[in-house]
This record gives sequence, structure tokens and C-alpha cells, in this order.
Amino acid sequence: MTPDELRLAYLDFMESKKHAIVPSSSIVPENDPTTLFTGSGMQPMITYLLGETHPEGTRIANSQRCFRSQDIEEVGDNRHTTYFEMLGNWSFGDYFKKEQLSWFFEFLTKKVGLDPEKLFVTVFRGNDKLGIGKDTESVKIWQELFAEVGCTVEDVDFSERDGMGDGRIFYYDETKNWWSRAGVPNNMPAGEPGGPDSEMFYDFGAERQLHENSEFAKLPCHVNCDCGRFLEIGNSVFMQYLKQADGSFTELPQQNVDFGGGLVRIAAAQNNDPDVFVTSFFTPIIAKLESITGKKYGESEEVKYAFRVIADHVCAAVMLASDGVFPSNKEQGYFSRRLLRRSIRYIHTIGYDEPFLAELVDVVAEIYGKAYPSILNGLPQIKASFTAEEKKFQKALAKGLRHFTDLKVIDGESAFALYETYGFPFELTQELAVERGITLKQADFDAARDAHAAKSRQGSAGKFKGGLQDTSEIATKYHTATHLLHAALRKLLGTGVQQKGSNITAERLRFDFSFERVLTAEEQKTVLNQILEWIDKELPVTKQTMEKEAAIKSGAIAFFSQKYPDQVSVYTIGLDPESDWISKELCGGPHVQNTKEIGKLTILKEQAVAAGVRRMYLQLV
Ligand code: SER
Repeated sequence: MTPDELRLAYLDFMESKKHAIVPSSSIVPENDPTTLFTGSGMQPMITYLLGETHPEGTRIANSQRCFRSQDIEEVGDNRHTTYFEMLGNWSFGDYFKKEQLSWFFEFLTKKVGLDPEKLFVTVFRGNDKLGIGKDTESVKIWQELFAEVGCTVEDVDFSERDGMGDGRIFYYDETKNWWSRAGVPNNMPAGEPGGPDSEMFYDFGAERQLHENSEFAKLPCHVNCDCGRFLEIGNSVFMQYLKQADGSFTELPQQNVDFGGGLVRIAAAQNNDPDVFVTSFFTPIIAKLESITGKKYGESEEVKYAFRVIADHVCAAVMLASDGVFPSNKEQGYFSRRLLRRSIRYIHTIGYDEPFLAELVDVVAEIYGKAYPSILNGLPQIKASFTAEEKKFQKALAKGLRHFTDLKVIDGESAFALYETYGFPFELTQELAVERGITLKQADFDAARDAHAAKSRQGSAGKFKGGLQDTSEIATKYHTATHLLHAALRKLLGTGVQQKGSNITAERLRFDFSFERVLTAEEQKTVLNQILEWIDKELPVTKQTMEKEAAIKSGAIAFFSQKYPDQVSVYTIGLDPESDWISKELCGGPHVQNTKEIGKLTILKEQAVAAGVRRMYLQLV
């Protein structure tokens, strides 16, 4: 099946089981300050799992685009990717184990056409301390399902020493068969939902000797072994528990199902080939890489590895861009930059240094454009942005690598120099260092960067001494004006408007924020008048220090991508910081004490910076 066919087969199947099919949410979470990227299909569903009513009903399904940045260095083997699509279906207090396990089994064996003999499952062993028992209910359901298609159905309490025996159903503890956003029960914060799960594995066969040829060969192989013989293709989570403050678990108001299945992994199972990069999700990209570079995918381990990294990373970067994330030095943009620069570096390792990204973007658009039209709509912009990034980095890369080779000492200082001069993301230098057997610590890089920043601050402080005495005063006014602008935009355009960046000089303030379209002249006027009105009202600006949690509870705006200490300062603009305010933000300051100090302001410009991001310039007059 093609990617579109397989995705549709699942969605059609779930529709036939009375599910409402909803679109994939953005890969950049819209209202979830806990994470930079959507990493699983359930993330956008969390409120419904906790009991809120979903507008489309109690049975929902979709294919969710996900990005897991933490897997970036794992990419290169036959199955890891940073970008993936997760097939998902949810029961919000509707059906439970019996329906879920039967439907998934039916989908795999009847619609995808997998041989049931090659399917193996795991269930939760139970844990007395948690007061949650062995999931014998799921075992019984699985036994019946497998028996119906004539498969043997031994259940085995798995042990590392004894291996799998003749089992098909295995009990594992909470490190394997429990799912929550925070992982195992002990790691879950109070208020987090979770539950036991049942995972499905596809067996690529003992005859490939994947286990014998791996570093795990000393112990018996089993379904959760990392040798690659078995691939997890789906996970049915029975989300029925809520963690309490005292560490115990109570039942959620409803029994939920949260199912997630790897679209590409199911394609690999359908192919009966453990290499996900030879599925139709990747073959057109690999073919393009072959024609561009003149190398063959299988010709050497080096080429294979490079092609896999590039294929995954370019896909991921295109998906991020289609949701408005372009290469930059900050937040999500930094990951886009890392993906692209890593791709450029890997194509360099196989001796290719010409531009190639735009051509690959076209291929990714062919694979995913129909399902995700925002890729097609943004195509010229995506290609232009990637090509600009490529131009910048390709030139610097060879020089930087030469510089790296000549280095006598590889430490925080030299990593920072590579970053400053050649644009090497720290992680790239770290990877290069590992190849030379050296461990580089982020803290050393940070220290070098901070020392450099302190030096340049001293430099500029010296430069401006005397002459620009009042620069800081102006900056302070602009700083408070930035908060007013943010508040005015959110008041007029809704709280979907979020700050994406800001920059202040002695001449103006610049403010980036999320918004889909150009602001009309009328809207700009309303925003400005609102700010001027607040200035005229002579509103006091109050600084409070409080616990981060309390600050957020009190309505203060925080930037999810930023790390805050436990104690934060909050600046509130308004007559009463508790009950009568127009702006409240977590912020380091400094600010004016009263809005009247700002004086008059005007809007210089409003423009686009990236898809879904606008920029405004304001000036004191
Ligand atoms: N949330 C579960 C997972 O990510 C199932 O959807 O595996």
C-alpha cells in the first residue's frame, strides 16, 4: 500500500466502527506549555481523557503527525525516525478492552493482511504496591482472538533468563506495559492519567539472525529486545487511572482507550522487511538521493546510514515547516536547523557538497502533500528557506570540519568557536567529538558562551558610556510597551496570539507573535489606540515574586519553550495586581513603574516573518 492507502485503510476501518475521524493536530502543540512538539497522538486528547466532552463524540480516530526530537541521534538504524505518524483511536468512556483488541487484530490481519503467526503481544503483569492486578482480562481476549485464527496461544511470564519459550502473550512490568505521558507510575505527577497497556509486536523472523548478530546475543531474544527482530507496531492503553497527590491511584470517572499505532512500522510489517526506509514512505526519497549523489542505498553501511538520516530529517523539517517552524536559533526553530544541518553534514560524509534540499522537499511533498495540503501551500516558502539555510551552512561546513580536524583540544571553548564562526550546532560538534572518542558537556559549551556574552556586554557598556546615558531608560519603556502590545493583541485577536520573540533597541521595539494573516489597518489602529488608552490611564506596574505554579494559576503568561526557575517574577499592569489588571507576564524586567512614563507610541510596520508568525515594530514618539 502507498502511505495514503494505508492511512486511509485505517481511518476507513475506524469509521466503520463508528469513530469520528478528526484531522491531525499541529506538530507544534497549540495549548500545551509542557512540551515543544506533539510526540504522541494522545497529547491533543488529554482533556477528553480526563473527562471533558469531545465535540465529536466518544469515539475518535485520526493519524497524528508526531516529532520526537529526543530520538535524533538514534536515526540511522533500520527503524528509528524523528518524524512519524501515529494512527490513533480513542474511547472516551465508551468501548474498552474487548472491542479495542479485537478491532486492532481485525485491522492488522484482515485489512493490512499480516500473518497472525507473526504477531506477538504483551500485557501488564500487575503490581501489588499500586493495587493494580495482572491484566488477565486482556490475556483472555487475546487467547480467543489468536485461537480463532488457529494460532497457538501460550501466555508466559517473561524472564530475561528463560526467554520466550513457545509463548505468544507475555507479561511485563510497568517499565514496559504501562503508559502515561510521564512514563512509569512513580514518575507521574499528581493529576496525570495513565494505565496498563497491551502492545503488539511483529516478528520479522529468527532466520534473519538479527539477534545473533547484535550486541544482545548473550541473552535470549524476546519481543522487547532491541536487536530488531521484533517491532512494536501498536499500543492499546487502558487509561483508567489518575495519580493522586499521596502517590496512590484512583479510577478516572470513565474507562478510556488510547490506542497508538506506528503507520510506517505497520507498513514495514506489511512489507515483511524490518527496514522502514524501504517502505513506500521513504523509497521515493532514497531514490532521489541515489540519483542526486550517484550512490546506491545498499552499497555501504556509510551510504545507507547517511541516506536514512537525511530521508528522516528532511521529512521532519518539511512537516515542521508546514506548521510554521523554520530554521532559526530559538525554540522549535532550532530543531529545524539541527535537522537540516545534520542532513547537510551527512551528505558531506559521502562526498556530496552540492545543494540538494529543495529537490528532496519536492519528493516529500509528493508523498505527503495530498494528506497535508499545508505542505503544498507552503512549498515555495519551504524550499526558499531550506535553500537559504543550505547555502549558509554548506559553505561553512567544510571549513568548520577542517578547523575541527586541526583542533588540539576539543572543549567548551572550541565548540563555542565552531558555533560562532561556522554555525555548528553544539550537538553536531558533540557528535563529531564522540567520533574522536571525546565527551563534550553542554555545561562547558554554555559556560564558554556565557563568558563570551559577558565580555561583549562589557564591551558595549564601555562603548556607550556617557554618550547614551538614557538608553536603558528607553529600553525600559519599550519593555513595558511590549507587554501592552502583547495584551492589546490578545484582547483584539484572541489568546491564540502568543509571543514568538521580541527585540528592543534604542530606536524601536520589535515583537513577533503567532497569527495567521496580515492585520488590517483598522486592526492596527485598534491595537495602538488600546495601548495609548492604557498609557493614558496611568496604570501602575507591579512586580511580585512567587512560585511558578502559583504565577501561572493566577493567569500570568509564560513562554512554554522557556525554562523558568521555581520562583519567578511576575509583572502585572493594572490598578490591582490581584483583581484589576490588563497584563500579567512572567518576566525578568526591568519595567517602568507607571504606564504614563512611556509617553506616546506609534506603529512603524506590520509584516510576516514566517507562516503563521507576524512581526510588528513600534516606536516612541
Ligand atoms: N499514547 C500511547 C503511545 O504513545 C498510545 O497512543 O504509545
